[in-house]
Amino acid sequence: MWIEQLDASHALDYRALMLEAYDLHPQAFTSSVRERAAMPLSWWESRLTSQLDVVLGAFEEGKLAGIVGLAFEPREKARHKATLFGLYVSGKVRQRGLGQQLVQAALAEAQNHQGLRLIQLTVTAGNEAAFNLYQRCGFIQFGLEPMAVRVGEDYFDKIHMWREI
Ligand SMILES: CC(C)(COP(=O)(O)OP(=O)(O)OC[C@H]1O[C@@H](n2cnc3c(N)ncnc32)[C@H](O)[C@@H]1OP(=O)(O)O)[C@@H](O)C(=O)NCCC(=O)NCCS
Repeated sequence: MWIEQLDASHALDYRALMLEAYDLHPQAFTSSVRERAAMPLSWWESRLTSQLDVVLGAFEEGKLAGIVGLAFEPREKARHKATLFGLYVSGKVRQRGLGQQLVQAALAEAQNHQGLRLIQLTVTAGNEAAFNLYQRCGFIQFGLEPMAVRVGEDYFDKIHMWREI
């Protein structure tokens, strides 16, 4: 297993893994599989080449099996903050520490960015696997956003967490 930053050459695999994530876990992500499947490959490439995003991939037996992203803030007064997004580990390779290693790799990446002081994220209330993982990695809950996402007829709250770096 290894973790590396993804670039435009990974766009097809990145797209496939994220569409799998949105499809299998609609409550965990704000994007829907329908709206993301409609995006052209160039949109996925731009996500991997943007100056404001870093996307890290975990490769298992040479295949992309896990993902995490960090989004940086362009505005001067918010540049001390980054947002962790899009954490996903494919079902076959879960519960082997990949998720934690991806979050740790994102934290290490954040430490390379001068002036960055904190990382924030949101996790759907009730997603114990992700919430526990974030807590293990030092994230603390600071808020709860009621009815943050609607999936079908159901509404889900989002827990807001942060961690100093
Ligand atoms: C949340 C998610 C990323 C976790 O990925 P993962 O690779 O399974 O994470 P880890 O292996 O680091 O930890 C998961 C569990 O496995 C356990 N574990 C880790 N290594 C282990 C090992 N070698 N043997 C047994 N258990 C192990 C961890 O202790 C943890 O247990 P817990 O859930 O009881 O706290 C994954 O479940 C996922 O992609 N879920 C769907 C999408 C999602 O919810 N994303 C988060 C959006 S905010």
